[in-house]
Amino acid sequence: MIEVRNLSFSYGRHRVLEDISFTVQDGEVLAVMGMNGSGKSTLISAIDRLRRPESGDVLIDGVPVSGMDRKAIAARIAYLPQRCEAAHLSVFDAVLLGRKPYMGFSAGKEDVSICRDMIHRMRLDHLMFRDLDELSGGELQKVLLARSLVQEPRVMLLDEPTSNLDPHNQYWMMSAVRNMASEKGIAVLAVFHDLNLAMAYADKLLFLKNGRSCCLCTPDKVDSALLKEVYAVNADIAEADGRRFAIIRKEFTL
Ligand SMILES: Nc1ncnc2c1ncn2[C@@H]1O[C@H](COP(=O)(O)OP(=O)(O)OP(=O)(O)O)[C@@H](O)[C@H]1O
Ligand SMILES: [Mg+2]
Repeated sequence: MIEVRNLSFSYGRHRVLEDISFTVQDGEVLAVMGMNGSGKSTLISAIDRLRRPESGDVLIDGVPVSGMDRKAIAARIAYLPQRCEAAHLSVFDAVLLGRKPYMGFSAGKEDVSICRDMIHRMRLDHLMFRDLDELSGGELQKVLLARSLVQEPRVMLLDEPTSNLDPHNQYWMMSAVRNMASEKGIAVLAVFHDLNLAMAYADKLLFLKNGRSCCLCTPDKVDSALLKEVYAVNADIAEADGRRFAIIRKEFTL
């Protein structure tokens, strides 16, 4: 379980996060939503302590992250950034890097076998020995997600994990993340812009507006008034396949 307590953060004098608090239980998926620049990526990186919060703390299974060193954090948190350089490194080696918190000087048999299994599970076998800089955007995103999963974290922080994926892979990937979260009891925080994908897979949605928590709710509570407040759009909510969909009205005149 992860608990974020009263987290605030500023870039210099620019306050970007203001007193954010929430918890995500083991096996739960929290979608972090909000307009461009609302503070989603900053929140994710402050939780991983890549950015030091001004105040507040993050607790994993009751233990404050502020008291942990980098290796201890890496053994608990897998972080998939929004932007990533495609290095001159094979897919297999890139996935193996996820095992670093558990390895000595070199990879053991178990590390290799965990990575092979994950590459197979992520349907990446045919790319195993290709270099990352030769992959498509979506293929690279799947490899980086595989790397996060072999880390066997307690918490996964995924910053727009499906932004480069086609519709099949978006839904397939989120099903895989959901299954693995329940199977291994991982708490997942994932940033999305696709409201319908978030409502399909998240247990809860956190909406940020100008760095403040505007609403923390279950998918069935997302309504037109909320979408108007968060995104300044007129939207209708429809139901199909036993779930809710947001349909944004096409009414911008430029
Ligand atoms: N390194 C930085 N230095 C100064 N300001 C920054 C830095 N990174 C981000 N910001 C600013 O902080 C605010 C929040 O940025 P952040 O990247 O967290 O937004 P976001 O919600 O992830 O947006 P997006 O949906 O576009 O990814 C923005 O106003 C941004 O310009
Ligand atoms: Mg971002």
